Amino acid sequence: MRIAISTGGGDAPGLNAVIRAAVLSARNRGWDVLGSKRGYAGLLGDDDVVPLTGESVRGIMAHGGTILRTTNRGSPFAYPVRNADGSWSEVDRSDEIMENARNLGIDALISIGGDGSLAIAQRLVDKGMRIVGVPKTIDNDVSGTVMTFGFDTAVNTAIEAIDKLHTTAESHDRVMVLEVMGRDAGFIALYAGIAGTADVILVPEIPWAMEKVCEKIRARDAAGRRFSIVVVAEGVTMPSGDVGVMGESLPGQMKRVGGVADTIAREIQERTGKETRSLVLGHLQRGGSPTGYDRLLATRFGGAAVEAVAAKKWGHMVALQSPHIVTIPIVEVLKESKRVEPDHDVVRTARAVGISFGD
Ligand code: F6P
Repeated sequence: MRIAISTGGGDAPGLNAVIRAAVLSARNRGWDVLGSKRGYAGLLGDDDVVPLTGESVRGIMAHGGTILRTTNRGSPFAYPVRNADGSWSEVDRSDEIMENARNLGIDALISIGGDGSLAIAQRLVDKGMRIVGVPKTIDNDVSGTVMTFGFDTAVNTAIEAIDKLHTTAESHDRVMVLEVMGRDAGFIALYAGIAGTADVILVPEIPWAMEKVCEKIRARDAAGRRFSIVVVAEGVTMPSGDVGVMGESLPGQMKRVGGVADTIAREIQERTGKETRSLVLGHLQRGGSPTGYDRLLATRFGGAAVEAVAAKKWGHMVALQSPHIVTIPIVEVLKESKRVEPDHDVVRTARAVGISFGD
């Protein structure tokens, strides 16, 4: 048996732990393991395909990033090509990847990625490739799994930032607006906001109004709490319909979001007269050593992915359905994305302890 492993999309702390667990489990079964570098680029011949052994994964558990590297613009169905004049085209190289995988003697692929990568994996499964998926995103927005690895580390990074913002906000009687990641889902903002004791949390799933945010800040002021912490998910839409835009995206890449915190901070300052500052935490949330929770979850996913390959669960994704790791069809996962439920007990509890969602 010869399997390959690839990591696609944005990195997440814990990717190396998945690779390590999958490699060690597979090697202990006597299987050969290959790693496709930079997503599918390795399998397409644009990067390396390397043998993975116990030696290759030694000491990587605690490391962020991915030893296989990654890309969020390498779909074999729309592969970006830069033309001589600097413009970009997209070509379908999916037949090529099928052929290369056959030539390399690859029996199955473990594809580790978010919903974009899982959608690509499903299209390759439809073409006959034997794939088992492993969900990955710090945003925690893949459905079918209670949790994705990387999320806990990102939340802890955000909490640390909120703790630090508290002391400076309090010293200056300021409002601090912290923007955390979460393109479509507000899980990082919600969890970090509660654990970091934010006063206002804004998430894409709950419509909000600027005046409600300001009311909360004024009420705190009147009660002698002269500073406030607002945590906002980058994917939040302004009540006017505007979204944050952060730089240009490249062809084959999702539109970049971010920067909404600054707009919110300006309006808060204008309406309340309180000095307000904003901070975009950005990719700090994607880096660093995974937490114990993420190391364990990632290791369980890696081990379960090898079990799923052994059981020929092609087109399935491993998932946490507490307390067990299960496998579910990727097509089911792709039917809907996971979002913060506005009536979830976590949101209700946040409201109960006095956090405003600006609504
Ligand atoms: O999907 C995970 C994520 O961290 C989003 O929250 C964020 O919008 C995006 O990745 C940023 O990706 P990039 O690495 O392309 O800047």
